[in-house]
Amino acid sequence: MKFHPINEQAQNFPKPKLSVLPLFSFKFLAISVKNKCLSSFNKNRTLYTDGRSALAHGLQLVGHSDKNAILFPAYHCGSMIEPAIWLTTDIYFYKVNQDLSPNLNHIQQLILQAKKPIKTLVVVHYFGFFQHLDDIAQLCKKNGIALIEDCAHAYYRLNNKIGSCAGDLAIASPRKFFPIPDGGLLTINNPTLQKEITLESRSFKTQLKALYSCLQTATLYPKPGVLGKVITKIERLRTKNHVTKIDVASTPSAFLWFNPEKMNAQGSYIAKWIMRFSSHQRIIECRRKNYQYLFDNLKNQANAHPLYALTDETVPYMFPLVINNPEQQFVALKKQGVPIWRWEELAESDCANSQHYRTHLLHLPCHQSLSRSELDWIMSCVADTLSKH
Ligand SMILES: Cc1ncc(COP(=O)(O)O)c(C=O)c1O
Repeated sequence: MKFHPINEQAQNFPKPKLSVLPLFSFKFLAISVKNKCLSSFNKNRTLYTDGRSALAHGLQLVGHSDKNAILFPAYHCGSMIEPAIWLTTDIYFYKVNQDLSPNLNHIQQLILQAKKPIKTLVVVHYFGFFQHLDDIAQLCKKNGIALIEDCAHAYYRLNNKIGSCAGDLAIASPRKFFPIPDGGLLTINNPTLQKEITLESRSFKTQLKALYSCLQTATLYPKPGVLGKVITKIERLRTKNHVTKIDVASTPSAFLWFNPEKMNAQGSYIAKWIMRFSSHQRIIECRRKNYQYLFDNLKNQANAHPLYALTDETVPYMFPLVINNPEQQFVALKKQGVPIWRWEELAESDCANSQHYRTHLLHLPCHQSLSRSELDWIMSCVADTLSKH
């Protein structure tokens, strides 16, 4: 397996002018014991440090080792795959269709051809849009394969009975929905995989670092306020004195994205607190409104098209935009400081759609912290750039 390299020009891109992920604001808190979480992940008591650690635990529960294999979608990010590499299990990539739904025929073919027994199939609900799982769940059941729903982009699902997940396991990455420095969740729906998992608690110092990290991001975007300026000064002093950068998510690892040493650590108190006291209703409404606004304004754009229209059940993670001429358009947008992610690093495979989306599919933010004028700025940069290139 070979991951594609990250764009060489990336180190020359300026810092994005807006945050890709949500920022702390009192506006999105609802400090009341009656505050209700509107996600099925609410039931989880155990908070991991990130989604990849939750996935690593899930794969261990299924029993992954070098004696078996796993199926991942060919469109993926490196952080999803590395826990499986760490477990030395064989990895196969199944093809995805143009709308990123799993290609069932290819999955069936892989099950027949695999050299080692396939233990798990991972399905991703990309950008918060849920995949239809009936056929896949049946196929998995028939072949004794555990189904893992990767809900890293899909923390919420509207109009859905809580707990009606088709997967044996599901993971979430709440950092994508809340202004928190760490956090990962694992739901075990299959009682035969149920096991008590105890995580190591974090030191007081690490808890403080997590709190500082929240403040740091919240006060630097879009422009540093008074607190932001103080933090910038502290950061300058710290780099001058060669103090290690404060980031609860960074400890050295042989992997690029996954750190096995962190997988048994608990998420921070500040992450738990913010999730507990966030106004879920406001976050949901805001994300849906922002997505729809981007969709209405970009749907008729020449040289690009949104991958999905909003559905009733979706609370979007990001806005997926397919562009026609990535070589020039992507670089031009990054140079203007437009906040964009792209899964450039995905592994080589024979899935033409995934290889195409590797460069052509942009992930634009639509989170709750973005104001209307910030969305307008993103859209005008996109429209202007696409019309010129
Ligand atoms: C689809 C998907 N799964 C899993 C992960 C891992 O989540 P985390 O960043 O919380 O480890 C990501 C992260 O970007 C993701 O996009």
